[in-house]
Amino acid sequence: MENYQRLLQSNKEWATKMVKEDPEYFTRLVNVQRPEYLWIGCADSRVPPNEITGTHPGEIFIHRNVANLVVHTDLNMLSVLQYAVEVLEVKHIIVCGHNNCGGVKAAISNHSFGLINNWIRHIKDVYRLHETEISEQPTEEERLQRLIELNVIEQVFHVAETSIVQEAWKKRNAPHLHGWVYDLHDGIINPLIEVPAGGPMPHKIYEFDNLPV
Ligand code: CO
Repeated sequence: MENYQRLLQSNKEWATKMVKEDPEYFTRLVNVQRPEYLWIGCADSRVPPNEITGTHPGEIFIHRNVANLVVHTDLNMLSVLQYAVEVLEVKHIIVCGHNNCGGVKAAISNHSFGLINNWIRHIKDVYRLHETEISEQPTEEERLQRLIELNVIEQVFHVAETSIVQEAWKKRNAPHLHGWVYDLHDGIINPLIEVPAGGPMPHKIYEFDNLPV
């Protein structure tokens, strides 16, 4: 059997097993999507959101890209964010990075990787913002790890800086923002930062004062 056919075969087995265990499983899911969580994570194949959090289809709305970035001009991310916050009314937004992230590794080097340079440029900006703290780390591995963590924290702030989230904070006192890092060595997620509705924000210049209530 060709490798890709294994995926289709496994899918059939999975669908059969789900219906056997719970005949209403798909009927329930097809009628309503009400996830409480939006996950913004790295595209890395080793960090699958549902598996590592023990959640099922229907529980997490997911957006993934290289190095879990929240870029304020990224229409894809903004569309996911707006839908999750305004229509699905998620209660929590999680930005999850992971150690040994290839995107962050690329950013901390001086190599050119072609087109993707323009994406990981955003991580170089995080490096510049926190250069002192990162350079104080004694080893290369620890410098990379600290940039991975600071990148997650900055992306959480980028979520908070959107009018989409600030409007929801005013209207329904949610969502709650979280920054996590997944450890590939032991499979454990370590929380780094929490931002409840209303802030704190990294700087008051990002606060909008004329949003509808
Ligand atoms: Co990654």
